[in-house]
Amino acid sequence: MSKPAWDFIVGKSDLHQTRVDAAPTADLAEGDIRLRVESFALTANNITYAVYGDRMGYWKFYPAPEGWGRIPVWGYAVVEASRHPEIAVGQRFFGYVPMSTHMTATPRKTATGFFETSPWRAELAAAYNQYRAVEGVEAHEDEQSLLYPLFMTSWLIDDMLADNGCYGAASVVLSSASSKTAIGLAHLLHRAGKVKVIGLTSPGNAAFVESLGDYDQVIPYAGLGGAAIDEPVAYVDFAGNAGLRSAVHHRFGEALVHDCVVGGTHWEAEPESHHGLPGAPPTFFFAPDRIKKRREDWGPGGLEARFAEAWPVFIADSTRWMKVERRNGPDAVRQTYLDVLDAVASPDQGFICTP
Ligand SMILES: NC(=O)c1ccc[n+]([C@@H]2O[C@H](COP(=O)([O-])OP(=O)(O)OC[C@H]3O[C@@H](n4cnc5c(N)ncnc54)[C@H](OP(=O)(O)O)[C@@H]3O)[C@@H](O)[C@H]2O)c1
Repeated sequence: MSKPAWDFIVGKSDLHQTRVDAAPTADLAEGDIRLRVESFALTANNITYAVYGDRMGYWKFYPAPEGWGRIPVWGYAVVEASRHPEIAVGQRFFGYVPMSTHMTATPRKTATGFFETSPWRAELAAAYNQYRAVEGVEAHEDEQSLLYPLFMTSWLIDDMLADNGCYGAASVVLSSASSKTAIGLAHLLHRAGKVKVIGLTSPGNAAFVESLGDYDQVIPYAGLGGAAIDEPVAYVDFAGNAGLRSAVHHRFGEALVHDCVVGGTHWEAEPESHHGLPGAPPTFFFAPDRIKKRREDWGPGGLEARFAEAWPVFIADSTRWMKVERRNGPDAVRQTYLDVLDAVASPDQGFICTP
């Protein structure tokens, strides 16, 4: 007998509220498919989806009861039922899934998989609606779920910085230097060797960040004021912490030549404030927008071909610093979510949930 279907949902106004709701299987409409979620990754990125759920539309991907939200995650799913003429039961896909046992989709078949066309997803970034077909079982599936969307972001930021001559910076300062997305960017900047790579992190994570070998300097947040850092400086902010942003702008003043706002790992801190700061104004970076731009610039397959040169190197390197931890079932999903939400998890852990 198949296992019960459920959705893991969180309180939109209190992310510590959680519930597991039974999700009875509905009949499929003509053209739809039902996918069983096999596994998904959970990192601070998914918490940011929830924090910005209303403002950036992340709650719209998967319908939930009033006041509750289903957080999107990245992972693998297999077709369990199909009323689509070109998609067969048993086919596997990689892409955006809910923290649930199942999801339904209204696919349009593409050369690489399918595009999800459910009407409530039409206004959302195209990159989130693309599902890649997977032949059999791939190498490094857990690392793919954990790092693919994050390293794609790291790679796109690196590309944007290179495209702009790094704004003339001698150093790039990264906050939440222990986050996987920051680690990916440090990895790329270090290999290019054009700027000093400076990591800001919490004191408890400094030794881990140092051990990576990709940062030229690792500075605990409180040490920013006294540290010698080559100027001019570009700031890439993964923390989204207003106090830290202000400290960075006041420390470097006009020598701050770019401020790239990427994330909000410090989601409980005062949110980012962008006004009245000395130095370059904060500029929001959104990976799907950069993907769209580069797809237009480089034509079909251009982005994928370039990314394919960097990705295997990073994946191979990740086994050095990331330990994949698999957790099974709804209780484990809840505990993992709370561990990531409250930063109980250590930065070398990579959580994969199997619902
Ligand atoms: N704009 C975009 O398109 C885009 C795309 C991808 C990712 N991002 C963003 O990049 C950020 C990093 O995501 P990730 O998945 O790579 O993170 P991750 O690996 O899960 O990051 C873990 C680190 O984040 C910090 N952190 C996490 N939770 C915290 C909490 N509750 N309080 C304080 N610090 C906390 C800690 O770093 P420290 O101790 O070093 O501060 C922790 O070691 C996210 O905000 C994500 O949304 C943005």
